[in-house]
This record gives sequence, C-alpha cells and structure tokens, in this order.
Amino acid sequence: MNQIGAPFTVHQSIAHESAARHVSGNAIYIDDTKQPEGLLHGWVITSTRAHARLVSVDLSAVAAAPGVACVITMHDIPGENDAAPILSGEPLLADGVVTYAGEAIAVVAAASLAQARDAAGLAKIIYEDLPAILSIDAAIAAESYVLAPMVMQRGDVDAAMAAAPMRLKGEAHAGGQDHFYLETQIAQAEPGEDGAMHVLSSTQHPTEVQHIVARLLGRPLAAITVEVRRMGGGFGGKESHASLIAGMAALCANKTKRPVKLRLVRDADMVITGKRHDVQTRFEVGYDEDGRILAMEMEIALRCGNVADLSGPVLTRALCHADNAYWLPAVRVRGLPAKTNTVSNTAFRGFGGPQGVISIEAVITHVAAALGKTRDEIRRVNYYAPGRDVTPYGQHIGADNLPRVLDELEALIAGRREAVAAFNAGSSIVKKGFAVMPVKFGISFNLPTLNQAGALVHVYTDGSVHLNHGGTEMGQGLYVKIAQVVAEGFSIGLEHVHVSATRTDKVPNTSATAASSGTDINGMAALAAVNVIKGRMAEVAALRLEAPVEDVVFNRNRIYAGNRSMSFPELAHACWAERVSLSSTGFYKTPEIHFDQASMTGNPFYYFSHGAAAVEAAIDTLTGEARILSAHIVQDCGSSLNPAVDIGQVEGAFVQGLGWVMMEELVWDAQGALKTHAPSTYKIPTARDVPPVFVTKLLENAPNAKPTIFRSKAVGEPPFMLAIGCFLAVQEAVASAAGWDAALRLRAPCTPEAVLRALRK
Ligand code: MTE
Ligand code: MOS
Repeated sequence: MNQIGAPFTVHQSIAHESAARHVSGNAIYIDDTKQPEGLLHGWVITSTRAHARLVSVDLSAVAAAPGVACVITMHDIPGENDAAPILSGEPLLADGVVTYAGEAIAVVAAASLAQARDAAGLAKIIYEDLPAILSIDAAIAAESYVLAPMVMQRGDVDAAMAAAPMRLKGEAHAGGQDHFYLETQIAQAEPGEDGAMHVLSSTQHPTEVQHIVARLLGRPLAAITVEVRRMGGGFGGKESHASLIAGMAALCANKTKRPVKLRLVRDADMVITGKRHDVQTRFEVGYDEDGRILAMEMEIALRCGNVADLSGPVLTRALCHADNAYWLPAVRVRGLPAKTNTVSNTAFRGFGGPQGVISIEAVITHVAAALGKTRDEIRRVNYYAPGRDVTPYGQHIGADNLPRVLDELEALIAGRREAVAAFNAGSSIVKKGFAVMPVKFGISFNLPTLNQAGALVHVYTDGSVHLNHGGTEMGQGLYVKIAQVVAEGFSIGLEHVHVSATRTDKVPNTSATAASSGTDINGMAALAAVNVIKGRMAEVAALRLEAPVEDVVFNRNRIYAGNRSMSFPELAHACWAERVSLSSTGFYKTPEIHFDQASMTGNPFYYFSHGAAAVEAAIDTLTGEARILSAHIVQDCGSSLNPAVDIGQVEGAFVQGLGWVMMEELVWDAQGALKTHAPSTYKIPTARDVPPVFVTKLLENAPNAKPTIFRSKAVGEPPFMLAIGCFLAVQEAVASAAGWDAALRLRAPCTPEAVLRALRK
C-alpha cells in the first residue's frame, strides 16, 4: 500500500469549508437552527454588587410575569451547584453570597426573549454589601489568591544579581480584553427520554459542557449529548465559560421539560463572562555593558477574578513565556493569581503567553533605554543560541527557526528604519516609531493529559467519506484542514470528504479545541482512522486486482496495482461486498511531553513556533492618537497544511493583538461594575485599523523537525503576540517625541489618553 506523486490536498490554499456560507449568510449558527416546538428563551438575573450577602431573593413577581415558564435558583439544581472546569467550588448560581457584579443569581425562561427580559427586571434582591477587592494591588495586599502563588526558578538568582555590573527595576502593565466573538454565548438544551439531555452549545469544549451539565443535573455522562457545528468565534472565551450558559439552559429545560435557548445579548455577555487577565509585572534585572541579561527576578500578577476557572494553567503559561526568545541564565519568576471581586478571567488567545511576553519585552526595553542602545541590539546578545538553549523550566529549545525568521523579516523591511528616522528629523507634531517583535511560543497543552484526540471516519459504498473528530470549528479553519488530511490520506478529492458537527456521542472524552493544537492532534487522530480503513481496503484491492498488497497504490481517486486499477468508489463497494468494515476510530496522543507543576520543570511543549513582526506606528503628540502604518510579518507554520487559512490566522491574530495593546480598554467603576459593556464604549479594531501596508509571509521550506501532521506547525495563537510590536512601535514614537523616560511610562492599551499621559507625565 503506497501513495505516489505530489501532495494532492494538503499544502494547498483551499478556502475555509464554510467560506461561501459565511459570506452569503447561509452558515447555520445555533440561533439560526429551526426552533423546536415549545421553545423557551432564557435570561440571566445577575448581581449588581461586587461582593455582598444575599439577604433576600424575591422572585415571585418574576414567576408570575406573562409568558414565564420557570425561574430557577441554586435550589433548583438536582445535582451539584458547581461549574468549575478544573477545581471545585465554583457555583453556577449564587449560593448565599455574590462575588462579582454580573454573577448569575437566577435564570428565567419564558415564551419569548422579550418576556424573559421584562420578567427578569421584576426580581427583588436585597443585598448586604461586603468589602470588595477590585484591583491586583488590593488582592496582593490582602494576599487574596485563587490558587497558591507559583515560582519558576533556575540558578542562583540572588548571587547573579549581586554580581551583575548593572541592575535596574521596572514594571509592565497590560489591560484585559473582551473576546468580542461575533456570536455571543449561546446554548439550546432539549430534554429527551429517560432524563437524557441534548445540548447545542457554542463551545470550544463539548466534553466539558457534557461534564458540567451532567454534574448539575446529577445524571451520568452518557445521558448528556453535546453538539456544535460551528461557533461565530471563540478565541478562548468559549473554552470553559460556554458550560455556564449550557448549564443554565439545561437546568431550565430539566425543570420545564421543554427545550430552552439561552443566548446572551452583547451587554450581558460582556458583563457575565470572563476576559483576558490583565497583568501587572514588577522586575529587577542584572546585566552587563552589552545588555546581556545575567539575572532576572520577576513577579507576574494576573487578575483572575472571583474564582480559579482556568487561571492556574493561564498563569503557568505566562511563566513559561516570560523568557520569550531569550536565554536567562539565572531567573526567578513568581506568579501571583490575584483573586478579586470581578468577573472570572479565562482563556484568551495566547492563554497567558501574551502577558509573559509583554513582560520580558519591557525588560528588554528598560535595558536598551538604560544603555542608550536599540532593543534589537539588546535582543541580539540575549537570543537563545547553541549552548544557551534551555528554557527556565528546563526544556531544550530544539529546532530554532527564529534566526531564519528574523533574516527574512530584515529583507522585507530594508530601508524602513532609516525612513522613519528621516521622517522624525523633519516632523515635530507627528512622530513615528519602528519596532521589531520576535515571538517564540510553545505548542501543546501545559497539562500533558490534555494532549489527546479522537476521530471517527466512515467510507460509504459510493466512495464518499464521513468525517468526525473531537475538534471544534470557531472560524479558524480546523474542519477544512482535517478534511484535507483525510482526503490526502485516501488520495481522493476534497469534495468527497464530508465534515460533520462535533458531538460527544461520536467522539467521546475530548479535549478543548485550544492551545492552537486542534489540527496537530485531531489531524493525527483522523489520519490514524484513515490508515486503519485504508489497510483493510488495500487487502480487498489486492484481491480484486490480483496483485500483492504491497503493490497497491492509492493515487488521485484511483487504486493501482501492476497494470490494473479501479476507482475509489469501486473499491469501497467491493469492500462492502467482501464484508470488510469501512469504518474506524482513530486516536492520537502527543509524544515526549511532561511537566511537573510543583517544580515547574519539564518538557511541556512538543515544539516551538516562531515568528517576527516589524511594525511602523505614528503618533499625534497633540491628541495622543496612534496609528499603525505598516506591519511586516514572517511566521513559521512548518509545511503549512493550508497557506491561505494560515495567513488568515496570522493576520487575524495580529489585528486582534493590535486591539489588545492599542485600543480595547475595560473600565470598571469604583463599585466594581463594568462600564464598557457594548461597542459604544469598548472599541475593537475595524477594517480602518488594519495597517495599510500589511505583508505576511510564511517561512518557506521549513518542515517541522517533529513528525507532526504533514510536518505542519500550529498557528492559532502565536501570531497574536506579534502585535506587541504595535505597542513597542508606539513607544518608540513617544521616545522620539519626549525621550525614553516618557516612553517607559506608557502602558498598554496605548489609547490616546495613555499616550498623552506618557508624553505629559
Ligand atoms: N480564529 C478564528 N477565526 N476564531 C477563533 O475563535 N480562536 C483562536 C485561534 N484562531 C479563533 C481563531 C484560539 S484562542 C485558538 S486556541 C485556536 O484558534 C484554536 O484552534 P486550533 O487549535 O484549531 O488552531
Ligand atoms: Mo485558545 S485561548 O487556547 O482557546
């Protein structure tokens, strides 16, 4: 059994499987599915206080309102009132106290959305306020943490610091970020026979939704089926928080024995569900005259909110990326998971990585400013290199494509630095800045157990193929990539492979589609299933073509042996006639990885992804406005499975990162209420903010050194961090206007107010 010839469907730029449906409005999201008979609509009744005891919750007027079928509180939960994805004790519905403004207290379900909303307004809740901790500083002062602080350490940091010829201290800050997926959180739960529940959920993690619904209902996992065809964006926000929405819908469905849809309107989504962790970093660095880092002591504090949720792994990843691309011979990084009376922050593209990377880039910036050198000069003496290639957690860097990435980037931007300097010499009000941003990002879930995937493949007698796997489609192009893998495996045209909705009853016990590893692990699982079926098919082909099985070749919709051949459908039909199974599951687990959370050492990542961006920004020193004028990017995607989809991921991640560092600002009032809960006050980047010069190149001839799926590399998250270059470029512009003292004051997001504050002290 062989395959000959050039790749047929992989390594090709093929449109997203729903591209035409997306742009024509024919892609079906949960809110578009045909409404089942008797469908009820949910609305969440939330706390208006950041921290308070619930003195009384009077829902009698809610229950009596027109159209209302039920209103539920924690007392209507037949199983456990716990929605924790990792730990326990994270109530779905408030249990006597509320711990953030926006926490769910009750859920009402009514015949229409308007009736549910109006009824919710009739709730009478009496609170007794308790002292609230709202900021990272207040949490640190009170030693209020959602988990024990973490320490990652290598070498004798105190001795190295004391011996360093120079030392400095500094800080880095970056705000949170709302996911702002186009489709807000939604679930529709439909009760079945014998206490079964079918849940349509916009989730990156169907298995976790299944677990939490089962836990809330007190039912076995097998009674709960979760299905997701596609999300209108997830970005990490639907990794753990989708189960809250699904859980509330399922509880109402259980109570009423009717189907219930819970779709959060934008304002509710922004108030109720978690975001990116804002970060506050303090550091001391010891270095020499060349800017070589000899010792680094860093404290990274994340605002986790009211419960742990995924904050442990997020903080772990922040610590694992506090080196970015630099060798730190003696290093101690402490991670503080601040517990505050604000919404529980959660996964968001990069998963703590961006917070770690922006912190070390601040170290590089401070050292450069202190020595009067450029950042690029400081980086050059600190990059990982042979003999200086072990991370603070003890993993060898392995194949390092960053030098190649940086060389190719330099070729793309020849002359641009000089042009910016020349512009600044002749301009006083508008100043430009230019910055390079390198990124190294570790691929795999930090927790080794999660690095597993399953798939289910059927071949029908007409040669068409049904594909199912554990990964979810959120716009990132996972479905088309896995379909390409399956088509390539059988060497058949992509049009013969039919992707289907992800369901917990087809592929069980899956991991979240997250950590950028959706294609890596589900692609391998799907290929494993294909290879089982193909092996059986080859036996039948050998029989029919009267040739040894070793001679059988699958090539472009036909199967050859000797000088005879048959079509793929003919062979599929022959297998059926010979009573040979044309269906198989496939399974994959990522090899080589291990991590010890207690010592924070190990090989948590199967490989590293590298990329670099060069960004040109301009600021108006009178208004503080900043714009990105150009961005050039080189990203290593290994042997890209689908360059068009990967370039889309790079561009999308970069623009989303631009939003994080430049414009998206979450504002809470002194009582802990989120004031920016709609696009009127919360600004995400639009088409006008995309850099007018925006060039993305994938590194060529760079197959992954590890045997990943067709030697590709993950792409979903790494390029997000390239956009930190936007912040660095704005900082350069501020420095050229008002010097580095001013530039070092700049904080992300560098909104016009932030730029003016930095310029004017
Ligand atoms: N791209 C789109 N269009 N929409 C999304 O929600 N999520 C990102 C990234 N790209 C996202 C996206 C995040 S946070 C991750 S972890 C990866 O996609 C997950 O998918 P993958 O593992 O298949 O890359
Ligand atoms: Mo992505 S933050 O790992 O869902």
